[in-house]
Amino acid sequence: MAILNGGETTHARKVAIIGAGSIGTGLAVVYSHAGHTVSIFDAAPAQRQRVLQEVRRILYDLQEFGLVALPADEIVRKVQVVDNLNDAVSSAEFIHECAPEDLGIKRRIMKELDEVAPANAVIASASSAITASEFADRLPGRARCLVAHPGNPPYLLRVMEIVPAAFTSEDAVRRALSFMASAELAPIRVRRELNGFVFNRLQGAVLREAYCLVRDGVASVEEIDRLVRDGLGLRWSVIGPFETVDLNTRGGIGRHARILGPAYHAMGAERGQDDPWTQGLVSEIESQRRAIMPLDQWDDRVRWRNRKLMSLIAARESEQD
Ligand SMILES: NC(=O)c1ccc[n+]([C@@H]2O[C@H](COP(=O)([O-])OP(=O)(O)OC[C@H]3O[C@@H](n4cnc5c(N)ncnc54)[C@H](O)[C@@H]3O)[C@@H](O)[C@H]2O)c1
Repeated sequence: MAILNGGETTHARKVAIIGAGSIGTGLAVVYSHAGHTVSIFDAAPAQRQRVLQEVRRILYDLQEFGLVALPADEIVRKVQVVDNLNDAVSSAEFIHECAPEDLGIKRRIMKELDEVAPANAVIASASSAITASEFADRLPGRARCLVAHPGNPPYLLRVMEIVPAAFTSEDAVRRALSFMASAELAPIRVRRELNGFVFNRLQGAVLREAYCLVRDGVASVEEIDRLVRDGLGLRWSVIGPFETVDLNTRGGIGRHARILGPAYHAMGAERGQDDPWTQGLVSEIESQRRAIMPLDQWDDRVRWRNRKLMSLIAARESEQD
């Protein structure tokens, strides 16, 4: 970090987290470090007992790497574990449901939350694929419900997909985006609900192909993981897939699409997919890239990427296991 600013938020809020597994616990770290007060509830007593210990352990690890701005013990004091959902949501402005990915469970919790949460609270779900249209469609307060899908672990992957349903109010979306920004989780507003949102669709594209390659005996699990870890993934930790091809091809992404588009289309066709990169689509993507980085900056940006990768590789080589 300092990925977290250590409580310099302009508006400290009371936040409720429902479900204290990997995601709920990770978000408790993020929100408390951002200066918000967190009440967390889990249906399992054993989970409730271990959550503070886990939050503290994560913060100590972050502290060891210089990634938190305040002493860990000071941050932990902002997290309170409670024995029931009602106490968790009392006076909460933002509620993040982090229970298992099960439509029945999410529907039940959302119904209860809508009944007992303060009228002005935004109710978000960390759901990976279930949409707000599915878990909140019948609720009187559905206009304040949406998905806020984090990366795992949320205190290291500083992104959050905000996915409203058609019935979600603009006010709830705006407040969710602003809350996530206050916690330094770069929020991305997904324009419409779709299965897996954006994060998991991208991950899914890679995973689907990886499964096929192992099935067809083309490469082993270890080899594919190594290709991503030391190849694609290393670059992706600095730049995304569009910037990758923009910087890999002199002339930028438009030229890349003209040269390699047909080959990528053929790869997709082998898997039964027919989504050619049409001229119109390539022009749109190229013009978005050129607005971010004019081509006369190409050499400088390539050098910047290379130096970022050098610094990452040096950090990897100096790390202890
Ligand atoms: N793990 C990931 O990589 C990841 C990433 C992004 C989003 N998500 C999503 O976040 C949500 C939580 O995932 P997770 O990995 O933290 O799951 P998890 O299994 O680690 O934790 C879920 C917790 O919810 C508790 N719980 C179950 N029913 C409950 C109820 N009625 N009330 C309160 N607590 C209840 C469980 O005891 C458990 O501690 C899921 O929707 C998941 O899809 C997961």
